[in-house]
Amino acid sequence: MSYLRRAWYVAGFADELAPGQLLARTLFDEPLVFFRPPDGHAVALQDRCPHRFAPLSMGRLCDGGAAVQCPYHGLRFDGTGACVHNPHGTGVIPKRAAVRSWTVVERDGLLWLWAGEAADADASLIPDFSAVAGAPADATVRGYLPTACDYRLLGDNIMDLTHADFLHAGSLGSGAITRAQAQVTDLGERSVRITWLSSGDRAPDAFDAHLRERGRPTDQWTEVTWTAPGAMLLHVGATLQGEPRERGVDTANLHLATPETTGRTHYWYWSTRNFAIDPHANAAIRPVIEFAFSQQDKPMLEAQQRRIGSAEFWSLKPMLLAGDAGAVRARRKLDALIEAEAAATSPEHLEQSA
Ligand code: FES
Ligand SMILES: [Fe+2]
Repeated sequence: MSYLRRAWYVAGFADELAPGQLLARTLFDEPLVFFRPPDGHAVALQDRCPHRFAPLSMGRLCDGGAAVQCPYHGLRFDGTGACVHNPHGTGVIPKRAAVRSWTVVERDGLLWLWAGEAADADASLIPDFSAVAGAPADATVRGYLPTACDYRLLGDNIMDLTHADFLHAGSLGSGAITRAQAQVTDLGERSVRITWLSSGDRAPDAFDAHLRERGRPTDQWTEVTWTAPGAMLLHVGATLQGEPRERGVDTANLHLATPETTGRTHYWYWSTRNFAIDPHANAAIRPVIEFAFSQQDKPMLEAQQRRIGSAEFWSLKPMLLAGDAGAVRARRKLDALIEAEAAATSPEHLEQSA
């Protein structure tokens, strides 16, 4: 499969990578090993020793945590991927004894990995998720769901939240989104937003209970901002009708889809809110969220993928509904970015620019 290369992919929650440990994780079909050298920053190396191709992640950290030692014959590699120790022969380090290193940036509690050449890494392309990262722990529910589907199906899932009214009927869905008219906003070549607004309805109980006055008509919003290739920030909230959003209640939620391999997706979710900030509320909300994502969304995504099989999505000629406008725009943008990259690295293009 072709992946977007000049892009940042979420590689995990920053606290999944503990100091002194190796973390093996495959992203876009590349087996990687992550660790934190003594200065604490995160590094990612190709998880394949250049000697006999053993996974370095089966080895151990050495040299005070500055290097990883291959479990098979003991070559050591530092955080740049350079071989720093050869226990064999004269100890001379062969020229080809190196593994590729990848650019990793830690921001807003997430590890972001640049899938292209290090020299091209552009940190300004990382979306701003500080609103979520800054939420109190007692208003936070996070989780990780490895899912057997193409990562773009998760994009479709979050960009078309009308599914909540059916798949999550009785919990997250109230029917309001399906009734509301969606607005799609183009945010440039790498981003698109879809917004559902409604006015005059009473808020769902979970919100109503935390408004200044209960049972009153409200303005409600559901807003997803997608950034290529698969990061989504979702705001859902309500305020008393006619009042500014800041006076109401809001939830800020991340849905992060990174391809692991063809047909497998790393899915991280991170839900926060600006109300009901206390451990008891959090303990009550957690199972509702976990159930919806792990027992409803994940099985649906995996079942869709089984029906799709290895067919290319568009080749199946999916029929489109009103709520698909955002998801389709996101897919088209991603396709266009991948095509543009392929064209820029094609032999004809390289010849022309030589
Ligand atoms: S396979 Fe790594 S040192 Fe031999
Ligand atoms: Fe869902």
